[in-house]
Amino acid sequence: MDVSDDPRYVEMLATLSEGSVRRNFNPYQDIDWDSPEFAVVPNDPRWVLTDTDPLGRHPWYQAQSLERQIEIGMWRQANVAKVGLHFENILIRGLMEYSFWVPNGSPEYRYCLHEAVEECNHTLMFQEMVNRIGMDVPGMPRLLKWAQPIIPLAAGPAPIPFFFGVLAGEEPIDHTQKSVLREGRNLHPIMERVMAIHVAEEARHISFAHQYLQKRVPTLRRRQRFGLSLLVPLTMRILCSAILVPPKAFWKEFDIPRSVRKDVFFRAPESRKMLRDMFSDVRMLCEDTGLMNPLAKLIWKICKIDGPASRYRSEPQREHLVSVA
Ligand SMILES: [Fe+2]
Ligand SMILES: [Fe+2]
Repeated sequence: MDVSDDPRYVEMLATLSEGSVRRNFNPYQDIDWDSPEFAVVPNDPRWVLTDTDPLGRHPWYQAQSLERQIEIGMWRQANVAKVGLHFENILIRGLMEYSFWVPNGSPEYRYCLHEAVEECNHTLMFQEMVNRIGMDVPGMPRLLKWAQPIIPLAAGPAPIPFFFGVLAGEEPIDHTQKSVLREGRNLHPIMERVMAIHVAEEARHISFAHQYLQKRVPTLRRRQRFGLSLLVPLTMRILCSAILVPPKAFWKEFDIPRSVRKDVFFRAPESRKMLRDMFSDVRMLCEDTGLMNPLAKLIWKICKIDGPASRYRSEPQREHLVSVA
């Protein structure tokens, strides 16, 4: 676990840690929750799902009354925030487990703790948002809720699969939030502010996970690397579905036809494309670290997340983002 012999990696960690000190957000200082424009009022059309949301662009959704669209939009957006904070809660525990074993003097300790602090702030921010929206949403699917206590425990003995799990959660959330912000539509200020803050801090977290894996994966033995190459696409697909697909309660509550659910997740061509695009950076990481072989490629394909790899990180997402200033 000693990284002192790798000056490039040590320097990268120092840069990320300094970034966390220089540019960070506090959910109760940097968001003016009680200002009148942040109020959540009934029948606010800014909660209607946009075209970037796979359900938002479905003809069934668009045929609903405005009132219904708002209601569904609020539920969906609150639940995405709740799943996000559930995921971050697991991540924080995993970072604690990992940093427990990090040797004295390692710059990984400092960075992991900065990241955990930021994630604690994100969970505060997301929960406040859920509370204000006022929908009693469940968050993660029930099965994952039961299984989650064991996930952070893996961060100690098996940090490499754990950090792939981190990417499986962070990449889809980040990708979705960036596309919503990029669309530049009139969002509710709570959504816009929370997402802009989140995207700004996630960039560091995603960068760390990539660099961590880029350093560690090539040191694995061939057989371990082969096993990992098969596990990665499965992890991406399972966690991404848990985050993106609303739980049973949602479909029941709004009486949404099964065929609509199937279209949206992920039969429609746009939904398929969204799913593939989310993981182009992870595919690049896998190619760079020797985790792409014929069998692994087949699993990526079966999971419907295959496709070309990015040439550099965030390649397809270069357009202008709403500033968090
Ligand atoms: Fe976060
Ligand atoms: Fe994060």
